[in-house]
Amino acid sequence: MTPSDREAQRSVNQPGNASDRGAQRSVNQPGNETPKIRLRSLRKSFGAKRVLDGVDLDVRANHSMVLLGGSGSGKSVTIKCILGLITPDEGLIEIDGQDVSKLSRRDRTEMRDRIGMLFQNGALFDSLPVWENVCFKLLAQKRITRAAARDKAAEVLAQVGLAASVGDLSPSELSGGMQKRVALARAVAAQPDIIFFDEPTTGLDPIMGAVIDGLIVDCVQRLGATALSITHDMASARRIGDDAAMIHKGQIIWTGAAGALGNTGNAMVDQFARGEREGPIQMELRR
Ligand SMILES: Nc1ncnc2c1ncn2[C@@H]1O[C@H](COP(=O)(O)OP(=O)(O)OP(=O)(O)O)[C@@H](O)[C@H]1O
Ligand SMILES: [Mg+2]
Repeated sequence: MTPSDREAQRSVNQPGNASDRGAQRSVNQPGNETPKIRLRSLRKSFGAKRVLDGVDLDVRANHSMVLLGGSGSGKSVTIKCILGLITPDEGLIEIDGQDVSKLSRRDRTEMRDRIGMLFQNGALFDSLPVWENVCFKLLAQKRITRAAARDKAAEVLAQVGLAASVGDLSPSELSGGMQKRVALARAVAAQPDIIFFDEPTTGLDPIMGAVIDGLIVDCVQRLGATALSITHDMASARRIGDDAAMIHKGQIIWTGAAGALGNTGNAMVDQFARGEREGPIQMELRR
């Protein structure tokens, strides 16, 4: 399904927002909706190394954004700051218009409970069987019995193309691609409101990658979730993204429609999206 097909489908499903979504406006343009996630002047250094140097980003509610950028440019750090796993040195993080630093501990925990995360390295719990990994959050929140969790795990594993019997294995018994799919199943099992996918298709074969992309689109459409995904795969970025943003030297240098990637008119973004050796980014690396 192309992004414009998806926009059209959304317009049918959610007529109230049709004109905004159909327009695929740049996220930098002013809009009336409160962004699901709003970052302003986010800064983070590790020792002398400044990784985030004033990140400004709006992620629209019920939309899917892809975040692009070179290796080590701060994509994972950005997501970890929003999740609260890394504390930024400066800057504002708002979710649903609320400054997360001003929330009570309880409200912050509640907010985090609504977020699903696929970590870049999977980060499965080796001490637990796959089915408990998949339903970890539901079990921890006592939203489900252990018997129901087994059934739920089988259902979600099927969505990522894995047999129910995989649920009884340990994560160490799985191939890398299977671990990735289990991590994805865990990210979506509790039907989160916001989902972060850090390189969801890296290490998967192209067909499984497309299946996973379909699942991400489905989460955003069917669950009405807001997704922020990091990917180096441009075909995937165009498939899953409504919007796209590129981070470079600790700042967001471009935001726009994911469908425009490779043809944005921004030399750095287009070079990155087309994977060209020659261009402004390489010249900087040579210095
Ligand atoms: N906990 C940490 N302590 C020290 N440095 C860190 C920490 N986390 C990240 N960094 C550094 O911050 C920089 C950005 O890391 P990050 O993981 O965000 O990169 P990335 O854009 O996700 O790259 P990739 O595409 O390779 O995953 C890197 O130089 C990394 O070494
Ligand atoms: Mg990363």
